Amino acid sequence: MVKIKDLGGLGEERHVLSLEEIRAQTEQCRKCPLCDGRTKIVFGSGNPDAKVFIIGEAPGKNEDQQGMPFVGAAGKYLSELLGYAGLTRDEVYIANVLKCRPPSNRDPKADEILACADYLRAQVRAVNPNIIVTLGNFATKFILKTDEGITSLRGTVQFAGRFMVFPVFHPAAAIYDRSKREVLAQDFALLGEMLKQRSDADA
Ligand code: URA
Repeated sequence: MVKIKDLGGLGEERHVLSLEEIRAQTEQCRKCPLCDGRTKIVFGSGNPDAKVFIIGEAPGKNEDQQGMPFVGAAGKYLSELLGYAGLTRDEVYIANVLKCRPPSNRDPKADEILACADYLRAQVRAVNPNIIVTLGNFATKFILKTDEGITSLRGTVQFAGRFMVFPVFHPAAAIYDRSKREVLAQDFALLGEMLKQRSDADA
C-alpha cells in the first residue's frame, strides 16, 4: 500500500491516492496529541472533482461533533461568500490544515501542522483543482510556505507548484471584525470573475 508520507510535495507528480484511500489513513491517525481529544476526524467535504479547493484552519466544536468542515457560524458565512463567486458548497471541495480540533479552539501548533501536512497535500493532489483558496494565515502560510501575513497577500494570485492560489481573510475573522466583510465580499467576487475568465478561455 502507498503510504501518504511517500507522496512528496505539492509540486511533485507522484502516485495520486483517491480521497477514500486518504480518508482511510487519516481515520487511523495518531501522529499528534490532538487525536486523544477528537470526537470525529474532520477529513473534508464537497465535490471530489472540484475546480476550487478551499482550505480552512482547523475544526471547531460543531465540526468535531459532526465530522464535517465549516458547519458552525463561520460555515454559514462561508456559504454566503461562495455565493459572491457564483459557487455553491456542492461545487467546491473544503478541507482544513488540521483534521482534529485543537482544545478550546486555540491556534494550531507547528508540530501539529507538520504531523497533518501530508493528508492535506494528498487531498489537493487527489482533487487536482484549478485554484486553491486559502482562508486566513494558517492555510496561506502552509500552502505558500511563506511568513508573509494574510493582510498583504489577500486578494492576490499566487502559486504553489502548479496550483494557482488565492488567499483571502478567514471568514471567522469577519464575524468579530465587521470591517473585513466588505473586503471578503470583494475578494470572492474577484474569484468568481477569475473562474469565469478561465471557463470562457477553456470553452
Ligand atoms: N470550521 C472549520 O472547519 N475550519 C475553520 O477553519 C473554521 C471553522
